[in-house]
Amino acid sequence: MPLPAGLPDVAVSRTPAQKLGEGHRLMNANKALWEKGDFTRIAASMRESGEALVASLGITAGMKMLDLGCGDGTTALPAARLGADVLGVDIASNLVEAGNRRAQAEGLKNCRFQEGDATNLSELADGSFDLAISIFGAMFAPKPFDVAKEMVRVTRPGGRIVMGNWIPNDPTLVAQILKISSAYSPPPPEGFVSPMTWGVESNVIERLAAAGVPGEKISFAKDTYTFTAPVTPAAFLADFRNYYGPTMNAFAAAEANGKTANLQEELQALFESQNRSALEGATKVPATFLRVTVAR
Ligand SMILES: C[S@@+](CC[C@H](N)C(=O)[O-])C[C@H]1O[C@@H](n2cnc3c(N)ncnc32)[C@H](O)[C@@H]1O
Repeated sequence: MPLPAGLPDVAVSRTPAQKLGEGHRLMNANKALWEKGDFTRIAASMRESGEALVASLGITAGMKMLDLGCGDGTTALPAARLGADVLGVDIASNLVEAGNRRAQAEGLKNCRFQEGDATNLSELADGSFDLAISIFGAMFAPKPFDVAKEMVRVTRPGGRIVMGNWIPNDPTLVAQILKISSAYSPPPPEGFVSPMTWGVESNVIERLAAAGVPGEKISFAKDTYTFTAPVTPAAFLADFRNYYGPTMNAFAAAEANGKTANLQEELQALFESQNRSALEGATKVPATFLRVTVAR
């Protein structure tokens, strides 16, 4: 499935030197996409589900935990409140700063954030973590096989990896935002690997197998994240349009083709139809994701 311009890609059929240059370009596009706008505006609607997910992880005091693609700490902070020793790693410097600010404001000395790339965590030693989680984070990195290898490498034998991944063609919010947006965006470059493939069990199994994890160590479950915002669905959509990199890019592409109104209309119909809040002026949207658990 293609995705809005700027989402990561994997280069193919090029010389090694070209690949290196291409790799940097793609990495920069990946970083630029998430530093664009202000993802904290969307993350604010994900706090309750982040806390609920963390509560289900069996976190104990002193557990060493990596939150990869952590954003501004929607899951990292609740894990630290439960006593885990948390490192959040994210490619976007503005989100790393926001996470550190949030942890500091709460006085959470056991929670820190640093910049890093899920495809290459060379600054982290093998087996450093009891638990590595990535909730809608590492799925957005290019080179999914490298991501799988790195997540496995930094998690200690006997430890656990938990991923939350959006599912391609799922009828709920995020998969549909990305699907609608892709229809307005230029076709992806050759060799593009959609982030949504992390929501397909066979792809997850293949990537983890290449990282040395046998299929019987992997389990899957469908789970739900609920977005909640104290504003109307239209105002909530405006947050995506103004602050969420992938949606911002889709609107930029639509504008270039004179299709802004069509994109707005399709997304508004989606947000309204998905809203389950009984309150006027409030939005509550459940979205289905694939929860992947790996026993290392
Ligand atoms: C949809 S947000 C989710 C953030 C957070 N996990 C949450 O639940 O709020 C995706 C996150 O993945 C991060 N990300 C994207 N590509 C990455 C990469 N290659 N390495 C590390 N983080 C990455 C983005 O910067 C962004 O913070």
